[in-house]
Amino acid sequence: FDELAAAVVAEAAVLSRAAAALAALDVASALAELAAERRHVRPRVDQSLAFAVKAGRHPVVEAALARSGEQFVPNDCELSADDSGAAPGAQSRGDAPDQKRLWLLTGPNMAGKSTFLRQNALIAIMAQMGAFVPADEAHIGVVDRLFSRVGAADDLARGRSTFMVEMVETAAILNQAGERSLVILDEIGRGTATYDGLSIAWAAVEHLHEVNRSRALFATHYHELTVLAEKLSHLANATMRVKEWKGDVVFLHEVGPGAADRSYGIQVAKLAGLPAPVIARAQAVLAALEKGGEGTKTAKLIDDLPLFSASARPAAPAAESAVERELKALNPDELTPKQALELVYRLKGLVRGE
Ligand SMILES: Nc1ncnc2c1ncn2[C@@H]1O[C@H](COP(=O)(O)OP(=O)(O)OP(=O)(O)O)[C@@H](O)[C@H]1O
Ligand SMILES: [Mg+2]
Repeated sequence: FDELAAAVVAEAAVLSRAAAALAALDVASALAELAAERRHVRPRVDQSLAFAVKAGRHPVVEAALARSGEQFVPNDCELSADDSGAAPGAQSRGDAPDQKRLWLLTGPNMAGKSTFLRQNALIAIMAQMGAFVPADEAHIGVVDRLFSRVGAADDLARGRSTFMVEMVETAAILNQAGERSLVILDEIGRGTATYDGLSIAWAAVEHLHEVNRSRALFATHYHELTVLAEKLSHLANATMRVKEWKGDVVFLHEVGPGAADRSYGIQVAKLAGLPAPVIARAQAVLAALEKGGEGTKTAKLIDDLPLFSASARPAAPAAESAVERELKALNPDELTPKQALELVYRLKGLVRGE
């Protein structure tokens, strides 16, 4: 063993070079295989500020859907901030007003906003690590840093609440992202009071647009923000398309221009299995809040609504069944094992007879 160990050590430099070469081959061939199997294409990566993805897909969600025989819906993304891929004749350095480097993405819950944000970030990473990307075409100007803020998490042991984590991450992005960065922000401002959150999201969009000037995707349920597109020349509104069908939502997972006017949160809650009385009550509260409009005292509105118990309890309790009568009448402590067994048979008989 000592001899073998000594022989290996003597060749250590050669062996580790061979190992490194094999590792590089392994990565390259695995990526090549993936590209061939999953229809990935070679991206164009250059020094421009382009971000143009045609028919992009999320590699992991697509593979998961494929296992259950479902199709992933591809989507385009165009955030180019110079004339590299955008409209002919546009001025350079992101100042042509037709260049929309910041997309504000609205749309119902479950429609695919987070998926779209992450697939574009993944495409940038894959392109820059030398892989082919899940799209029909992709042109990416080198991204110096990728910033993302997604999901709700806390860090209680280190003294950070959910909202604090969200703000610390947002602060890092607004303080550091630059013209060459790519930013994805998923639902800023959700962890605090509605108007506080909306105000923070509003100011963050303006800062990203005016100061950071990064290529960015910003998903939100604050539909109020979509009016910013009138004021900010490089901001475009994009939305996830849905169809309404017999009171339910059907998700098309298509990104298109425009703004959503509602989030269908209650319909999605129904799909998730919230109890029917809760859904009915939520619909009533929503209707009252929407009627009241901005500035109405919600406390008063809620007072005006019939109480939950009065409005949502099932109409009349169903008549008592024979089984229920029998169960109510008995005292389990007084039963012998034999009587208990007989009781089970009797109850069973009653259920069958009913
Ligand atoms: N392009 C797509 N094609 C097919 N299915 C998709 C697509 N995008 C998303 N989905 C499916 O929809 C689910 C929900 O997507 P996602 O979490 O992105 O929605 P969301 O709009 O961010 O919702 P929320 O507002 O609740 O966060 C995904 O888990 C995926 O199964
Ligand atoms: Mg989401």
